Amino acid sequence: MAKIKKIAVLTSGGDAPGMNAAVRAVVRAGLYHKLEVVGIEHGYEGMINGEFMDLTSLEVRNVIQRGGTFLRSARSMEFKTKEGRNIAYKKLVERGVDALVVIGGDGTFTGAGLFSQEHDIPCVGIPGTIDNDIYGTDFTIGFDTALNTVVEAIDKIKDTASAHDRMFFIEVMGRDAGFIALQAGIATGAEAILIPEVEGQEDKLKEFIMKESKHKKSSQIILVAEGNKLGGAHEVAKKVSEDFKGISVRVSVLGHIQRGGTPTAFDRFLASRLGVAAVEALLDNQRSIMVGYTNHEVVHVPFNKTIKGHRNVSAELLTVADILTI
Ligand code: F6P
Repeated sequence: MAKIKKIAVLTSGGDAPGMNAAVRAVVRAGLYHKLEVVGIEHGYEGMINGEFMDLTSLEVRNVIQRGGTFLRSARSMEFKTKEGRNIAYKKLVERGVDALVVIGGDGTFTGAGLFSQEHDIPCVGIPGTIDNDIYGTDFTIGFDTALNTVVEAIDKIKDTASAHDRMFFIEVMGRDAGFIALQAGIATGAEAILIPEVEGQEDKLKEFIMKESKHKKSSQIILVAEGNKLGGAHEVAKKVSEDFKGISVRVSVLGHIQRGGTPTAFDRFLASRLGVAAVEALLDNQRSIMVGYTNHEVVHVPFNKTIKGHRNVSAELLTVADILTI
């Protein structure tokens, strides 16, 4: 395998707090190991369009505490095609890049997996998404910050819920996964948590509301993951208002505030460790792997495993939620 001299780094998919800290760590680790580092703007789309910038310590100064991603991000349709990936490869070769670090979620790793199968370029992935739904890592960069943002928002909404004896349906992100909803629900003492991974929640919710109305409990928080099977918070609230007249219901969709903001210490720490680990993995001749974080240790997981595997919500957490939401 040819010696790596120049690496490129990009952020792709939905942005997540801590991505800047991860880019910074990749740049600094690269420089530490005497490599040249190039940043690619707008993810794979920018790779196809040749949006490259040289990165030195200067460009990554003062970014560790910033949310978003200064490299910008995108979801590229063109990179999903073989032709698109061929163009991207040519651009990398023109720029003299011989290895790639990608920061993102499932879609990002699928793209990198195909890219490194088709072209002779080692790729290492770093998990960055607020959803925490990547197989092979206990945490993704951005999840902890998003969770804390959600908890803070719910605590505020609870004040109004109790002042007005209202039932609030609060929708949080998670198109396919309920990690944010489940953990925020437990952390805020929500009365019910609706997530995509659990079947038969409609009957349970009805039972719960009937029981609660008998107890005349003054206010309730029902946490709804956006991808949950009964629909989003608006749909669920509508059904409940139709079935139970006289309940004062409100809906709050937290939306993109969950994606932004200053990363927590944990996300900065995680991003820093994984950024260094990604560069060291490349220098160690690893290719087509994700660097993850399991049981407080950095781990290497092959792309095909992390792409094919499905990360389930923990059965123990579901039990905790069940016990505490009764
Ligand atoms: O993948 C992260 C995520 O935040 C999902 O939870 C959410 O459904 C999606 O991104 C929203 O994406 P966009 O910003 O493109 O609307």
